[in-house]
Amino acid sequence: MSDTKRSTWGSSATFILAAIGSAVGLGNAWRFPNLAAKHGGGAFLLVYLLAMLIIGIPLLMMEISIGRKMRSGAPGALKGLNKKFEPIGWAATSNAFVIVTYYAVVFAWVIMMAVFSFKFVNMTGDNAAASSLWSTLIKTTGTIKGFGTFSAPVLICLLAAWGLIYYCIRNGTKSVGKIIKYLVFLPVICLAFMAIKGVTMPGALEGIKTFFIPDFSALSDPMLWVDAVGQVFYSMSVMMAIMIAYGSFLDDKSNIARDGFIIAFSDLAVSLLSGIVMFTTMYGTNLQDMLAKKSGVGLAFGVYPTAIVNLSGSGVFNAIFAFVFYFCLCTLAIDSAFSLVEGISTAFSDKFGTNKKKTTIMICTIAGIISIIYATGGGLAVLDIVDNWCNSFTLILIGVIETIAIGWFCKSKFIVDEINLNTKKIKMPKLWFDITVKAVAPISLTVLFVWNIVDLFKNKGGIYGAADGYNLLSNVLAGWLIFGLCMISGFIIPLFAKKIKSKANKSDEQ
Ligand code: PHE
Repeated sequence: MSDTKRSTWGSSATFILAAIGSAVGLGNAWRFPNLAAKHGGGAFLLVYLLAMLIIGIPLLMMEISIGRKMRSGAPGALKGLNKKFEPIGWAATSNAFVIVTYYAVVFAWVIMMAVFSFKFVNMTGDNAAASSLWSTLIKTTGTIKGFGTFSAPVLICLLAAWGLIYYCIRNGTKSVGKIIKYLVFLPVICLAFMAIKGVTMPGALEGIKTFFIPDFSALSDPMLWVDAVGQVFYSMSVMMAIMIAYGSFLDDKSNIARDGFIIAFSDLAVSLLSGIVMFTTMYGTNLQDMLAKKSGVGLAFGVYPTAIVNLSGSGVFNAIFAFVFYFCLCTLAIDSAFSLVEGISTAFSDKFGTNKKKTTIMICTIAGIISIIYATGGGLAVLDIVDNWCNSFTLILIGVIETIAIGWFCKSKFIVDEINLNTKKIKMPKLWFDITVKAVAPISLTVLFVWNIVDLFKNKGGIYGAADGYNLLSNVLAGWLIFGLCMISGFIIPLFAKKIKSKANKSDEQ
């Protein structure tokens, strides 16, 4: 990849905002508060903070610095470190591709809920209607059956979602730079508005106390540690080909050590704000038990609407609140979604030398077509399985391999020097970096991976979601197969590129 034509962020603020935009997403809004509630609030917060400082921050800086040094997307940058590392970058890129196919659908659901928020006007106090609004709209069968039926609102919103994603990244860093300033601050304003309503509700104080005051006995639950480390990875968008690509558009004057801290702490701040919103509204509407029980999408689309219709006696106020909430989720989701596409298209255009814009169109189109699967009656079940595998297995295994490769088979001094290149005050200490990348990260990720596998086989009989009616075949197809394909894609894609190149060379000679 020639250096001369590579676009840059224009200013360090643009880069910081784009990276924050990627990190801050739906995961902050409901995954974080949900996990915190599951593990008794404050104790989870404490471990999360620890994991972010010890593991998250050094890895985030590591990825950004590799990108800047090598001036290439994830596969090319890792190849630059060591020829044998290229497949790791492709595995991460493939996993990002799988994730964006369903992340776009969750984004579409959020758009749909914002559009349909007027329905909350007539639902005051009606818990049953509120909690089933989303499942009725998406026409889910709740099982892996039902691929013949579609939900028109979801399809329309999905088209809108892809259109918006493409619109934001159509000109790479330039168009991202223009739009990102709004996308990062809007959700914070919306969340602040909701937090004000939340803390003024009776019972809210109890929620705040639970969220912030640690119950130290909860620390003995290993699941708390597993969930906290997993959330740090997910939330900081590391090991997903994104931060390397974003780093590759940085200029040499940028201060990675300082920027890394700003990105990490901003991500944490939004998680805390979301936590305050969730805990106060759930305690304020006396639905706190649901916050801990339901997980993932069920919380945002099933439980939160119930809280909304109990917010006040005024249907109009509740509907406005609902609109603000879902609009806020839209702004949170979009920059995470397009960062995934940007990571993928950077990887491909760097490797194949293709035009960036055309590559982006191709990726959006292919991923867009695949994402239609999730708009069918059986889509929710498939999404649940794919999401579980991508984040519990593929992402974690890539993390193990990437940290071992870089920690043990690269000179860490050169990466730490790159991180600290332009910084005087805030530095990443080499010892901290070494301990994390060589030991803490690979060990904790391996434990996480093994834990998830053991949990799958021991507690779930080898079938994820058996209780929800998912069978072995769907686990094999949407789980193991995709996991396997992502891992081997690292070897297949470079071979493919080699073939294309030799063909092109041959035709040049003729
Ligand atoms: N970090 C994002 C969040 O917290 C999630 C995300 C996942 C973003 C994958 C990009 C890629 O929601």
